[in-house]
Amino acid sequence: MLEFLKKRRNHFIGIDFGTSSIKVVELSYENQKAKLENYGIVDLDWDGQGGQPNGASISSYEQKLNAALKGLVAKMKLKKGSQAYVSIPGFSGLITIIDLPDMRQDELARAIQFEAHKYIPSSLDEVAMSWEVIEHIEAGKTLAQNIGKDGGKRIKVLLVAAPKKDIEHYDRLVSGVNFEVNAIELETFSIARSLVGDDVGNFFIIDIGSRATNIILLEKGVVSVNRNIDAGGNEITTAISDSMRISRQRAETFKKGDKDLINSKESALIVPVLELIASESKRIINAHKEKNKDLRIDSVFLSGGTSKMKGLEEYFSRSLDMPVVLGNPWRRISSNDNVKPLIGQLGASFSVALGLALRGVEEYRRE
Ligand SMILES: Nc1ncnc2c1ncn2[C@@H]1O[C@H](COP(=O)(O)OP(=O)(O)OP(=O)(O)O)[C@@H](O)[C@H]1O
Ligand SMILES: [Mg+2]
Repeated sequence: MLEFLKKRRNHFIGIDFGTSSIKVVELSYENQKAKLENYGIVDLDWDGQGGQPNGASISSYEQKLNAALKGLVAKMKLKKGSQAYVSIPGFSGLITIIDLPDMRQDELARAIQFEAHKYIPSSLDEVAMSWEVIEHIEAGKTLAQNIGKDGGKRIKVLLVAAPKKDIEHYDRLVSGVNFEVNAIELETFSIARSLVGDDVGNFFIIDIGSRATNIILLEKGVVSVNRNIDAGGNEITTAISDSMRISRQRAETFKKGDKDLINSKESALIVPVLELIASESKRIINAHKEKNKDLRIDSVFLSGGTSKMKGLEEYFSRSLDMPVVLGNPWRRISSNDNVKPLIGQLGASFSVALGLALRGVEEYRRE
């Protein structure tokens, strides 16, 4: 009986604090399937063009997020005590793979602390770190990165770090709506979970939001490279507004329209941010191919709200010279027929929120 009472509720909430909106999704797990129970989105109107809540009294960033989240949770009628999973923006954290000689667990902890100093400029007291051995490399294996080293057994360690103050910030916000915060993770892992899941192939993901772009390479299903570019859909709006000499508001509407602005041979708009994202992606893929000659990328996925832009798949397929498709974070999630068209519209702007809630599902399944 006690066991029964202790059993966790099979509902999980994912919360993505994006720059342009907060996205929330609730999934349940039953009959071996994750099911969509509820979803919601609230725009964060940073420009103050309408909808600004009470100007002076709600001024700070945190208060604004707090009010927006509270409103959304009330509208969605989410239960107090719900189990929530929350993301930290990719650009706030660090993901890196370290190559080390094989060693005992206690030595390893010290070695990683030492290595982490190379990557983390601030005091290690201010960051939360976690790590995991992702690969054992037998002695004498001549993977490019091992050449010239001692030739003994080596290991690859995935190191993840994020500032404690950011984690506390999101923890406060979500505890503030009386949810239980089960985990806070870098959004990179949420995106990878919803788009790739357990597939063990090599994947390349370009997630373009409004302020930021998150580029992710997964090798054998594990995140191995993560780059963040401090630009995204906002800069596309700027490029359209500048080149067509129209207001940002009109440019935003135009950007979301049915017309392909970026691929026509005669009149394609030059969008510097897309060129930047494409060239950075090419650089990462080429560097990866140099290191691992036999590895090939199975799929390239687009994600984030900007992935809905007309012609983006064609643009990146051409510039990367490989097929690029829209990622589908909903593919492993069942839903009622009446919401299916809405889900189609949301598309890959829910990759982060879904990946977070799917973490809850996965943890529950393993229990
Ligand atoms: N149909 C569309 N066509 C083109 N762009 C779109 C479309 N729909 C939304 N966008 C753009 O997507 C962006 C929002 O995407 P998303 O919700 O992924 O961002 P975010 O998570 O709030 O921001 P960030 O991840 O940068 O913090 C905005 O720039 C918006 O203009
Ligand atoms: Mg985002």
